Formats: sequence, structure tokens, C-alpha cells
Amino acid sequence: MIAQPILLLSLNSICFKASGKQLIKELSYQFKVGPRSIIIGPNGAGKSLLLKLCHRLLEPSQGHIQWHVEAENKSNTAFHQAMVFQRPVMLRRTVSANVEYALSLRGINKAQRRARTEEVLGLTGLNHLARFSARVLSFGEQQKLALARAWALRPKVLFLDEPTASLDPTATYEIEKVINAIHDSGTQIIMTTHDLPQAQRLADEVLFIHRGRLLESGPATTFFAGPTNQFAQAFLKGDLLMWDRPETKMLGD
Ligand SMILES: Nc1ncnc2c1ncn2[C@@H]1O[C@H](COP(=O)(O)OP(=O)(O)O)[C@@H](O)[C@H]1O
Ligand SMILES: [Mg+2]
Repeated sequence: MIAQPILLLSLNSICFKASGKQLIKELSYQFKVGPRSIIIGPNGAGKSLLLKLCHRLLEPSQGHIQWHVEAENKSNTAFHQAMVFQRPVMLRRTVSANVEYALSLRGINKAQRRARTEEVLGLTGLNHLARFSARVLSFGEQQKLALARAWALRPKVLFLDEPTASLDPTATYEIEKVINAIHDSGTQIIMTTHDLPQAQRLADEVLFIHRGRLLESGPATTFFAGPTNQFAQAFLKGDLLMWDRPETKMLGD
């Protein structure tokens, strides 16, 4: 008998409206425990909005989001999640103080803070920069630090919004290694990217979003072998799915 996957997070017909525009449209999905979920789609598709809705930085205007966490933790799902943005904000402190501060906000005691900080800086290869001011690091190193800071919290889920968007190939490779290490440590990765080769390298499952709608989802191997949705096919071929081009519009837009 095949074991049923364990549910992590359900999106039930969520909509998000701003400035009179429907930006996320009746989107439903069940994230399960295990796979690295990569949300892809063209610029302006609604990827960042979707991630912010999942992370509760925004509230859906309709529908609801449900976390399936252990009963004893249900009261505070915020403790199970962390998010890293495309351009992380570094505190004007040392590299290690940036990590320690994030831990102190979660009420972690001093000895634990020290231990966890040393651990994540070691795991991300930032140990030699521990005493440097975070603001003098390169963009790639800052992004690594943002990942280390989030990893130190040991979240159940880590949301990553285009974490390599402004990085060169070498820095991108380094960040992808860290993302995989975080995944291997048991933290679930839910990430957006507009970079197809990156999605192919990292995804276990793909969610394809266009114009605020989830048009196709499934295992990465199936999706990349040949999606069934015409917009997903066009996106994979490299066609520009511009927001305002009439041929990319769908019925009901
Ligand atoms: N607060 C807002 N008010 C109005 N429009 C918004 C707001 N936030 C995002 N948008 C618009 O919603 C669309 C989706 O944005 P976003 O989720 O950032 O796209 P993506 O991350 O896929 O590039 C874009 O057209 C963007 O301009
Ligand atoms: Mg975005």
C-alpha cells in the first residue's frame, strides 16, 4: 500500500484584491510534507504575492489558508515559518549578531543563540566573516547570511522569494547549495523563481502561475517533460508572457 502524503498547508480558493484589481484568483493547492515546491511564472504573475499570502504577510480577500501542524503547536504557526526576500535587509551589526538577534526575537536563550549561530555560519561557509559588519558583505554573502539567519530558527517551512535574482552564476550556485542543505536538514522549501533552469535544478514539484491563476502543478519531471497548459508550454519555450499582450489574456480577465 502506498502511504498517503502528509499535508502541510492548504490554500482554499484564495483571492487577493488590491487597488480594485483581482491579483490572485481562486487559487487552491495542498502543499505536502517533503518536496521542494517551486513556484514559477512570468514577471507579474503573482508569485511574490502568493508567497506573502502563505507567510501571512498579507491576508486573502477571500478563501482561507490552513496549516496542518502538530496539535500542540497549532496556536502559533508563525514559529514554524521563516521567509527570505530577494533583497534581504541586514542589520547594522556583525554577521553573527544578525543571526543572534533573529534568535533572540524568538526567545532563544544566550547559550543556544551562540551555539546555533556558530553552527549555521559553519554550515553556510560564513564562519570567517562572523565578526565583519553585515553591511560590507557582497550581495551573495548577504543572501547567504539571510539564509543562515532563517535556518538558525529551524523553521518547518522556509519561504524563499527569488533568492538568487540579483546574483551572478557563481553566487547562485553557492546559494542553491545552501538551499539544498536546508532542505536536507528537514526544513521544507517553498520558493519562487522566474529562472527556468534554476527551477529544473531545484524543483521536486512545480506550480505554474500566470495572471494570478495556478494553471498547472505537479511533479517536476512530469512538468518539464511537457506541461499540458498552453501558457506553461509557451513559458517553457521561452515565449514572453507579458501581462498586457492580448494573446496572453484568458477568458474572464
Ligand atoms: N499592493 C499592491 N497593489 C496593487 N498591485 C499590486 C500590489 N502588489 C503587487 N501588485 C501587482 O500584482 C501583480 C503580481 O505581483 P507579484 O506577486 O509581485 O508578481 P511576481 O512576483 O510574479 O513577479 C503585479 O502586476 C504587481 O504590480
Ligand atoms: Mg516576485
